[in-house]
Amino acid sequence: MTRLMTLKNVALILSSALLAAAQQNIDTQCPGYNATNVSNIRNGFKADLVLAGNACNVYGTDIPKLSLTVTYETDNRIHMKIIDPANSRYEVPESVFPRPSSWGGTRTSPNIKFNYVKAPFSFTITRSTTNETLFNTTGFPLVFEPQYLRVKTSLPARANIYGLGEHTNSFRLPPGNTTRTMWNRDAYGVANETNLYGDHPIYFEHRTTGTRGVFLLNSNGMDVKLRGDDNGGSLEYNVIGGILDFYFLAGPSPIELSKQYAKLVGLPAEIPYWGLGLHQCRYGYQNYLEVAQVVANYSAANIPLETMWTDIDYMYERLVFTNDPNYFPMARMREIVSDLHARGQQYIVMVDPAVGVKPGVSTAYDRGQALGIWMKNPNGTNFEGLVWPGVTVWPDWFNPKTQAYWTNEFALFFNPETGLNVDGIWIDMNEPASFCEYPCANPSAEASSQNLPPSRTSPPPDKTASLPIGTTIPSLTASLLKRGSNYTDVLNPPYAIGNVLPHLSDRTAFTNVVHANGLIEYDTHNLYGTMMSTATREALLTRRPGKRPFVITRSTFAGAGAKVGKWLGDNLSTWDHYRNSIAGMLGFASIYQVPEVGSDSCGFGGNTTETLCARWATLGAFNPFYRNHNGDTSISQEFYRWPTVAQAARNAIDMRYRLLDYFYTALHQAHVDGTPVLQPLWYQYPTDSNTFGIDLQFLFGESVLVSPVTQENVTDVSIYLPNDYFYDFKSYTFINGTGSTTQLTNVAYTDIPVYIRGGAVLPLRVSSAYTTKQLRQKDFELVVAPSKSGQASGTLYIDDGESLEQSSTYTAQYTYKDRKLTVKSQGNYNVGSLKYRNVRILGLSGRPNNISLNGQNVASNMVQYNDTSKSVSVNVTQPLKNTFTLKWS
Ligand SMILES: *[C@@H]1O[C@H](CO)[C@@H](O)[C@H](O)[C@H]1NC(C)=O
Ligand SMILES: *[C@@H]1O[C@H](CO)[C@@H](O)[C@H](O)[C@H]1NC(C)=O
Ligand SMILES: *[C@@H]1O[C@H](CO)[C@@H](O)[C@H](O)[C@H]1NC(C)=O
Ligand SMILES: *[C@@H]1O[C@H](CO)[C@@H](O)[C@H](O)[C@H]1NC(C)=O
Ligand SMILES: *[C@@H]1O[C@H](CO)[C@@H](O)[C@H](O)[C@H]1NC(C)=O
Ligand SMILES: *[C@@H]1O[C@H](CO)[C@@H](O)[C@H](O)[C@H]1NC(C)=O
Ligand SMILES: *[C@@H]1O[C@H](CO)[C@@H](O)[C@H](O)[C@H]1NC(C)=O
Ligand SMILES: *[C@@H]1O[C@H](CO)[C@@H](O)[C@H](O)[C@H]1NC(C)=O
Ligand SMILES: *[C@@H]1O[C@H](CO)[C@@H](O)[C@H](O)[C@H]1NC(C)=O
Repeated sequence: MTRLMTLKNVALILSSALLAAAQQNIDTQCPGYNATNVSNIRNGFKADLVLAGNACNVYGTDIPKLSLTVTYETDNRIHMKIIDPANSRYEVPESVFPRPSSWGGTRTSPNIKFNYVKAPFSFTITRSTTNETLFNTTGFPLVFEPQYLRVKTSLPARANIYGLGEHTNSFRLPPGNTTRTMWNRDAYGVANETNLYGDHPIYFEHRTTGTRGVFLLNSNGMDVKLRGDDNGGSLEYNVIGGILDFYFLAGPSPIELSKQYAKLVGLPAEIPYWGLGLHQCRYGYQNYLEVAQVVANYSAANIPLETMWTDIDYMYERLVFTNDPNYFPMARMREIVSDLHARGQQYIVMVDPAVGVKPGVSTAYDRGQALGIWMKNPNGTNFEGLVWPGVTVWPDWFNPKTQAYWTNEFALFFNPETGLNVDGIWIDMNEPASFCEYPCANPSAEASSQNLPPSRTSPPPDKTASLPIGTTIPSLTASLLKRGSNYTDVLNPPYAIGNVLPHLSDRTAFTNVVHANGLIEYDTHNLYGTMMSTATREALLTRRPGKRPFVITRSTFAGAGAKVGKWLGDNLSTWDHYRNSIAGMLGFASIYQVPEVGSDSCGFGGNTTETLCARWATLGAFNPFYRNHNGDTSISQEFYRWPTVAQAARNAIDMRYRLLDYFYTALHQAHVDGTPVLQPLWYQYPTDSNTFGIDLQFLFGESVLVSPVTQENVTDVSIYLPNDYFYDFKSYTFINGTGSTTQLTNVAYTDIPVYIRGGAVLPLRVSSAYTTKQLRQKDFELVVAPSKSGQASGTLYIDDGESLEQSSTYTAQYTYKDRKLTVKSQGNYNVGSLKYRNVRILGLSGRPNNISLNGQNVASNMVQYNDTSKSVSVNVTQPLKNTFTLKWS
């Protein structure tokens, strides 16, 4: 969470008229490069790029000669890399972003092609099947200067562009005048059109003829500008460091493109089954008794609570790896955790990266200081900033000793025998966030003036302070020079990206901070959160070997989903934020490949209202990560606080939990091949242009359409239904989609409209349960929702729900055709005595004359026909392992 504070000098940087003018002239005045010395290499070619004319030196000196490499890595992926051959420049380290495995074979029939013109150098990417142009730099000279790289492509008019996060803009970015700035930032209130916590330089462009993607593997600050009108548009990268490392992905379907991107950045990690239960958190729980009370209140209200969380409140003086002995004494915390575990529930706490400079008080500080693992100033002293405990230092994840340090701190503080026996970890403030504004000349004075850490009412405990150790400042060696960066000014780069704060170093680690391997924060700033994520995942793996770690982070870089999940940060309790949480989720789950994502239900900052919280309790149930969380100055908002909200939560959790194995199956598929677990409508209806801008409705998995009410004080919602068959999830009634907008009325505050898409066979648990552990003991029912052509299919995947490597799994395939359902299973996972209790077939024209199970007539008392919904439920009672068929006529 973020400290609510008034910023002294927050202002939007308005680039000076001079720079703006310089930039407008780039198209006409910069010379670009000529390609020479072209030579073939395996699956591609390389060339020199020499400055074609007089340098324009727009934000520095044009680098006279570059080196271009183009490789067809697969039939669907082209890799284009431009570097300065004379001076090694920063590239995203392989240790943080492993490069995708390249195609072993020889290029056969690529689905996209790289074509270029030598002088001045420009290139196009075209789709082989249609000859369409997907990327075209003609007329837009390449600019390559030490601290300014520019690549620009033309776009069709009103292009459908998605991605370029993290942002709270609409899911489809306005093509006319959008600037997306990538510079990770602690962004309380997640304002539209600003840089937020994460950096995902990938965009999808969709046309009725296909979808394609462009990924720029670069972690430096950048602005990506979309400009255009009815005659056409452009997309321009303005990057302040590193190299040009582009990957072009072919698609052509949105799902195929998603899979191609997942292959590139890393397939998403699997999460434990329990991670899909309801999480309850808040900043401002005063003491352990209050935490225990909330758990009890959920239970009394019969609202399933899976995991209880505690924010920084549990810490002593806000120091990581400590607990407050008066307010959150370890013995009592351990009791709470044991009680939770005994009931099949879980416990999670927050860990921040910043370590308070409190020698003798923070042993985590003492140990880190002894190891010399903190991020450094250029002169080798520790870089200091200001976070919750006051003056802090930060672990340098590039230091080879840091992982062992972090793992050790986890082993000590979260020791199952003697410490806080948590089940997962929440990492925050990892942009990294600081409360100090550049130049932050005196962090200690700032700490006092900001009252950090805030005092509690009782006196601090009498602790026997141990002596500070390891105060020697380790000297930095020549490794600093390892990468000649050619940057002239990393504190005030000549091109000012659209960071909301005046300086890149405001409220974060300074850009001149040096890492143990010589890299500087200027280049690696946007990696900090993802590197902390990886280190935390590793620490949890050491603590519970073989068990899937559950880590939720705030800051991310491309590929973060391979390690952790993400919450959408410090939103506000407003209808606006309720609405744009859907686009936020879609960004992470359907584009960036971070499927375990969700917003703080009911909102974090400000005060929620009963109706907002009720609606958000239901919408949250269709977030992959479902958590109620709010701020310390907000009113309490646990779901049991209002009868309407409690009922809304119970109803929505009932739906979520019955669907949980369907969704867990989708998460498993995402892990296997990158199929997105949430999808915008256009992923399934890619030729229906009415769907391209929709971001208030979404698909939960491929087959469940969620259409929440989106306005305050109303019980109706206007929804779009593509030309397809749908069935109401609760009443089973058939709804014929006609490719038009429909008004739903009387949607109670305790309800959310959910439809099953025709063509699906959904495996549902027969009923919900209080914990996911109990849920896993419930039998299944199959709901058959035929498509227009009378067919349907589905899958169910079950494993032990927690092991990283599964020795055995269970998979069932359902196919429905010609009025016959076939159920087949494979795998040796022990599903115990679980059964398919019944099969429900929707969309009938009348009561079936005859139903047979494995060729035997089913007795009429085993059949329930519902005349209102025109559906039939047949009691089948088949063990999950059985193969069976159900046929009707
Ligand atoms: C680049 O190519 C153009 C067009 O052929 C030519 O006029 C120009 O002299 C070339 N520049 C260099 C540096 O070779
Ligand atoms: C694409 O261009 C090639 C070469 O010009 C041509 O042979 C082919 O017919 C074109 N395909 C389409 C779909 O227009
Ligand atoms: C690229 O853009 C230029 C300038 O607009 C245009 O003349 C050219 O036809 C385009 N090339 C392709 C392959 O679309
Ligand atoms: C933020 O963006 C969303 C999505 O485009 C929009 O609905 C909302 O009105 C915007 N909010 C503000 C405060 O501008
Ligand atoms: C584009 O948006 C910026 C920032 O919102 C605004 O200042 C500018 O006037 C807009 N330009 C156009 C052409 O609309
Ligand atoms: C090292 O640099 C930091 C940050 O600029 C500065 O505060 C500190 O005084 C310097 N220390 C020494 C010993 O030069
Ligand atoms: C880049 O830096 C290197 C030293 O690392 C220096 O030799 C070279 O001249 C610099 N190049 C430019 C274009 O500034
Ligand atoms: C939230 O409600 C509390 C208690 O009524 C009040 O003190 C606080 O000012 C409210 N906060 C906001 C942002 O309105
Ligand atoms: C919704 O109703 C509440 C309570 O009557 C009222 O305070 C609020 O202004 C209403 N909001 C809108 C958008 O009409």
